[in-house]
Amino acid sequence: MTVRVPAKVNLQLSIGPPRHDGYHDLATVFQAVSLYDDVTAAPADGLQVTITGDHATGVPDDDTNLAVRAARLVAERMGRAADVHLTLAKGIPVAGGLAGGSGDGAAALVACDALWGAGLGRSGLLRLATHLGSDVPFALVGGTAIGMGRGERLTPALARGQFRWVLATVADGLSTASVYAECDRLRAHRPVPAPRISDTLMSALRAGDPHALGSALHNDLQAAACRLRPQLSRTLAVGEDCGALGWLVSGSGPTCAFLAGDAEHAEELTAAIEASGTCDRVQRVSGPVPGARVIDGADR
Ligand code: C5P
Repeated sequence: MTVRVPAKVNLQLSIGPPRHDGYHDLATVFQAVSLYDDVTAAPADGLQVTITGDHATGVPDDDTNLAVRAARLVAERMGRAADVHLTLAKGIPVAGGLAGGSGDGAAALVACDALWGAGLGRSGLLRLATHLGSDVPFALVGGTAIGMGRGERLTPALARGQFRWVLATVADGLSTASVYAECDRLRAHRPVPAPRISDTLMSALRAGDPHALGSALHNDLQAAACRLRPQLSRTLAVGEDCGALGWLVSGSGPTCAFLAGDAEHAEELTAAIEASGTCDRVQRVSGPVPGARVIDGADR
C-alpha cells in the first residue's frame, strides 16, 4: 500500500502572540505543491522503518518520526499490534518548511488505515492527524486551504488555475520551534495583533492572478528565519532581481519559494538562483495538487 503526499508552501503565514500551551494562533493559507514523498506500508512482524530517496539523510527512524507515530496511533485505535514495515521515499527536504515530516505522518495514517482495513474515514483520519501535528491535517486534504488555530482548523480556499513555483532548498534544515521562538524574541516589545487572513490574497487566488498573488505573499516567520540563517536574504534577493512575481520563506524555512509567471519565467528564475550558489538545490513545482492519496504501480 503506497501513499503519495505533497509538500506545502504557506502563501500567507500570520502569527499571533504565544499561547499558554506553547503554540501560536495562526492565520495561514496553505498550498500543496508537486514535490512528493511516497510512504509504503507492508505487513511485517513488529514495526520496521526504511528511509530512502534524495532526502533520506537526517530523517529519524525512531518514535520521533511522525510516520512511526501515525502507525502506532492507527494500531492503538484498532486495538492491534503495529505490525508494519514502513518505507519512506523522501523527495521532500527534511526540516525545510515544506511539511515533509508532517506529510509522512499523514501518508502513514492513510496507508495503515488502508492496509489494516481500519475504516477510519475522512473525519477519523483528520482527528488523528490533528493529534500528530499542526500541519498534518493539511497534508491529508491538500489543494489550497485556510488554516486557523494552530493551523489544523482547515477550510478549503477557492483557487483558480495552477501556480508555478521555484523552490530553493538547502540540506541543513531549521527547527520549527526555534524559528517561532526567534519570532517571539523579535516582536517582544511591540503589540502583536490577532492574525487574520488577507482579503487581497484570497481574491488573487479566486482570480487565478499570479501577479496579484505574488504581491500578497506574506510570512511573519521570515524575519526570524533570515536572522537565524542570513544566507536566506541573499537567496530571496536573487529571485527579486530576476523578476519573480513574489517570494518568501516557506513556513519556518529554510526553503525559499518564488512565484513565476509561466514555464519560461520559472526556468529563468531556476537558472539565476542556481548560478548564485546561495542554496543547494532549485526545483520547479506547481500547485495546487491533491493531498495524501493511495497510488498504484502506474503512478510510480
Ligand atoms: O505542531 P508541530 O509539532 O508541527 O509544531 C512544532 C513546533 O512549532 C511547536 O512545538 C511550536 O514550538 C511551534 N508551533 C507554534 N505554533 C503553531 C505551530 C507550531 O508555536 N501554530
